[in-house]
Amino acid sequence: MCGIVGYVGQKQSLPIALDALRRMEYRGYDSAGIAVAGSNGIVSAKRAGKLANLEDKIAEIGADTLGGTTGIGHTRWATHGRPTDENAHPHLSYDGKVAIVHNGIIENFAPLRDELVSAGIELASETDSEVAAHLVARAYNEGETAGDFRASALGVLRRLEGAFTLLFIHADHPDQIIAARRSTPLMIGVGEGEMFLGSDVAAFIEHTKQAIELGQDSVVIITKDDYEILNFDGTASEGTPFTIDWDLEAAEKGGFDSFMMKEIYEQPAAVRDTLVGHFSAGRVTLDENNLGEAELAAFDQVFVIACGSAYHSGLAAKYAIEHWVRIPVQIEVASEFRYRDPVLDERTLVLAISQSGETADTLEAVRHAKGQGAKVLAVCNTNGSQIPRESDAVLYTHAGPEIGVASTKAFLAQVAANYIVGLALAQAKGTLSPAEVAEIWAELEAVPEKISETLGTRDQLKQISETLGAVTTMLFLGRGVGYPIALEGALKLKELAYIHAEGFPAGELKHGPIALIEDDLPVVVVVPSPRGLSQLHSKIVSNIQEIRARGAKTLVIAEEGDTAVEPFANWLVRIPATRPLMQPLLATVPLQFLSADIARQCGNDDIDKPRNLAKSVTVE
Ligand code: M6R
Repeated sequence: MCGIVGYVGQKQSLPIALDALRRMEYRGYDSAGIAVAGSNGIVSAKRAGKLANLEDKIAEIGADTLGGTTGIGHTRWATHGRPTDENAHPHLSYDGKVAIVHNGIIENFAPLRDELVSAGIELASETDSEVAAHLVARAYNEGETAGDFRASALGVLRRLEGAFTLLFIHADHPDQIIAARRSTPLMIGVGEGEMFLGSDVAAFIEHTKQAIELGQDSVVIITKDDYEILNFDGTASEGTPFTIDWDLEAAEKGGFDSFMMKEIYEQPAAVRDTLVGHFSAGRVTLDENNLGEAELAAFDQVFVIACGSAYHSGLAAKYAIEHWVRIPVQIEVASEFRYRDPVLDERTLVLAISQSGETADTLEAVRHAKGQGAKVLAVCNTNGSQIPRESDAVLYTHAGPEIGVASTKAFLAQVAANYIVGLALAQAKGTLSPAEVAEIWAELEAVPEKISETLGTRDQLKQISETLGAVTTMLFLGRGVGYPIALEGALKLKELAYIHAEGFPAGELKHGPIALIEDDLPVVVVVPSPRGLSQLHSKIVSNIQEIRARGAKTLVIAEEGDTAVEPFANWLVRIPATRPLMQPLLATVPLQFLSADIARQCGNDDIDKPRNLAKSVTVE
C-alpha cells in the first residue's frame, strides 16, 4: 500500500530516497516524507499530497538541512488518519531521536497509544504508526533495554500485532537502519559500500541488481557494508538472494506520456512472455509450478479468488475452464470469500489471481482456503511477493512492472495465464484431446500479434471519445466471455475518468437496468463472435436494437467480418477474429483507450494515479 525506502551508504541519502519515492509513488500518493540521520540528529520533512509537495517543502527549508548518509522515506496510502501533513510519515518519537516509516496496520495500536498517553506522551498524529516511534524511544531511554537500539526495536516489534513493514533510525546510531516485516513486503538491495531497503525493487533498481527477499517475521539491520537478518526473537535468520531482471528503463515511461499508455502498448509482449515455455512436445507445462499431472487430474472443482481486474480475468477463466475441463468453477471476490464459509476440500483447486501478490483480501482468502485443505495455485506478476509465497504453487505472469494504478497489461497476462491453467487441467483430466489442446494453444500464440493489430484502434477511440460529448454515465454490455470484458471496461472508466459506469450481462438488461436508458446515453456493447454459439450473437444483436429503440447511442466492439451489427452501431470498432474464448485478450484493448481518452477530456491528466486509489491494496 505505502512505499518505503531506506538507505545507508557514503552518498547523501536525500536524493536517493527522493528518486526511490518517485518510482514507488504508484503504491500510494496521499503524502510523502523523508527523515535523515546526520550530525544534527534526526531531521525530517513531510507533506500531504503528491511527492511534488514534499519537494516544494524541501526547497523551502533547503536540502542542506536534510544532509546525512542514512535516510528513510515513505509515500503513503492512508489507512488510519486522513492524508494530512501531521499524518504523513516519518513519525518522530517524543524525544525527537527515533524516526519511523510504516506500511500496513498496527492492529493493537489503541492499547499501545493509551499506554503512551498514560505515561504522559502526546501523540502528534491520528495514525496507528506513530506509537512505534514512541515505544522504541521509551525502550531505549529506560528499563532493561536502555541504550540498546537493537534490543529496544526487537522488544517493541514483539509487542506489535497486525501487518507491518517498519523502518527505524536513531539519532545515536546514525550508521544503521533497523527494519522488520510481517505480511507486508520488504527487500534488501545490496550495493558496494551502500545498502538499501525497499517495499519493492523499484526503490533501488537504479543502484543495484542484487537483492534479498526476506521471509515472514524478519528483522534486518543494515549498515553501509553489511546486513544482518534476525527473527523477532533475535536469533539469526536468512533471506533469499536474487538478481533483479527488470531494468530501470522497464520502470520508466519509455517515451509515452503515461505509464498506463506505455503498458497498454506492452500488452502483446506481456501475453507472449507469459505463454513462453509452457508448451513443448505437444503438451502444456506448468514448469514453475509444483502441482503434478496426477494432482491436477484429481481436482473436482475450482474456486477463483481475486479482486478488481484480477477478478475479471478470473471470470473469463470460469468460462474457459468449465468449457474445457467440465468441472464447476466458482468465482468469488476475495474480500467476501472467507466470510461466507465456502465449501472446499482437498479436491478443490483455488486459483488466487493477483498482479501485486500483496492484495490483503486475496492473501487472507488464500490462507482461509489452505486452512480448509484446498490446494492454492497463485497467478501472480510479482516475484517473491506474499501470495505466491503462501500458495502451494505459482504460475507467474511475465507482464513486467505495472506502474499505472489501472491494470492493463497485467490483466491480459492474467487471462493468458489462467488459460494455461485451464489447458493444463483439461490435458491432465483428458477432457481435451492432445490435438484440441494444440489447436487452442496455436490460437493463444497467435493472440499477441492480434493484440498488436488491436492497438491500431488508438486514433479511432480518440475520435470517438471526442464526439461523445460530456459523458456522465456509461453502460457496458457483454454476453458469455464478453461479460467480464464489459465489467473490466466499466471499471477502467470509473477509476480513470471518475464517471459512473456499469457492466451488465446484456440479457440481464431487461430485468431492470434498461430503465436507465435514455436519449444519447452511450452504451458499449461487446459483441460475441458470430462464429461462436450462434444464438448468443443474434441475441446481442436484438439487445442492441432494444437499447437503440430507447435512445441509446451504441459503441459496438465486433470482430472483423461481422456485418450483422453494422446497421445498429453509432460507432463500430473492429477487432481481429479469434476463437470466441480469446475475445477478452483483444476486446479489452479499445476499452482501455476509451477510458484513458475520456479521463483526459474530463480533466484527469494523471491517469497513472487516479484519486483515492493505490496500486497494491495491502489492507482489508
Ligand atoms: O494486485 P492485484 O491484482 O491483487 O490487485 C487487484 C485489484 O486491486 C486491481 O486489479 C485493481 O482493481 C486495479 N486498480 C484495476 O485497474
